[in-house]
Amino acid sequence: MEVVTTYRILRKEVLAPTLNMFEIEAPLVTKKAKAGQFVILRIHEEGERIPLTIADFDREKGTITCVFQEVGKTTKELGALGEGDFIKDFVGPLGLPSHIEKYGRIACVGGGVGVAPVHPIARALKEAGNEVTGIIGARTKELLFWEDKMRAACSELRVITDDGSYARKGFVTDLLKEVIEEKGDIALCLAIGPLPMMRAVCGLTKQYNLKTFVSLNSIMVDGTGMCGCCRVSVGGETRFACVDGPEFDGHQVDFDEMARRSVIYKPKEQTALERYNSQGAHKCSCNCGGDS
Ligand code: FAD
Ligand code: FES
Ligand code: MG
Repeated sequence: MEVVTTYRILRKEVLAPTLNMFEIEAPLVTKKAKAGQFVILRIHEEGERIPLTIADFDREKGTITCVFQEVGKTTKELGALGEGDFIKDFVGPLGLPSHIEKYGRIACVGGGVGVAPVHPIARALKEAGNEVTGIIGARTKELLFWEDKMRAACSELRVITDDGSYARKGFVTDLLKEVIEEKGDIALCLAIGPLPMMRAVCGLTKQYNLKTFVSLNSIMVDGTGMCGCCRVSVGGETRFACVDGPEFDGHQVDFDEMARRSVIYKPKEQTALERYNSQGAHKCSCNCGGDS
């Protein structure tokens, strides 16, 4: 784990309205980053800490790529930054890396912004000699991203949109069912995306007794196993997503509890967003990531 003082945004791409990609200069984090890990960042001194997955890394350039959806105050404030701006804290890599080995045939499923975290894992699994079938989906064409990167990372890629505005119409579970039946010998499934999607994937793969890993986005504060905020129940035991995960056996996860815990701070989050919308971004004249 490495901590440096400021982190520059070298490249920004708006992938869709409220969906951004940042390539951030963080050489020490990059040195140790592995597929499946995440960072916790703080935009400025007064900001809150938020976790984002390492969606890509370039060891030569010393950069980490993150893709994030603007869903509340901090991600909105982050999305307002541009190339050349700085992020105050960028701590990582955190969490356990994905377990990469040769399994045989694998299905890697990414839904919505979940396509970004699936990407480096699919790539590492293919590099380890697996035949990786990628399945990516989005609500609509406009929200679909990284089809090209996923095509390169996987042995084969299948695409679907909920409304049929691009590729097939339907859900990632429709494609996954087809892949499981067509291939007949899928050894492992990895699914990352919104909670209802991961729950639906696990419901499907359970019927086929297909081992499935999911990456859990529980609320995190310190990211080091100290605060207990990210606790989840897996196989009836309490686990901390930040240090024991974020990947877990999806068939063992208590998704009901996760869903309940993910909204416990909703009123406070709503107030923070309203205050941000009325007062605007953090302003300061120091080099802390605010508008100077
Ligand atoms: P808020 O309005 O504060 O919160 C909106 C919702 O986001 C909340 O209801 C809650 O469910 C969730 N959330 C809020 N605070 C946190 C927190 N500290 N930790 C986790 N979830 C929180 N999102 C992406 O868009 N891209 C990613 O690559 C990504 N990777 C993640 C990796 C991990 C390991 C985890 C745990 C979460 C990841 N998330 C990712 C989710 C992201 O952290 C939240 O969307 C973000 O913290 C919301 O902050 P906010 O202030 O904008 O929204
Ligand atoms: Fe504090 Fe995991 S975020 S224990
Ligand atoms: Mg917040």
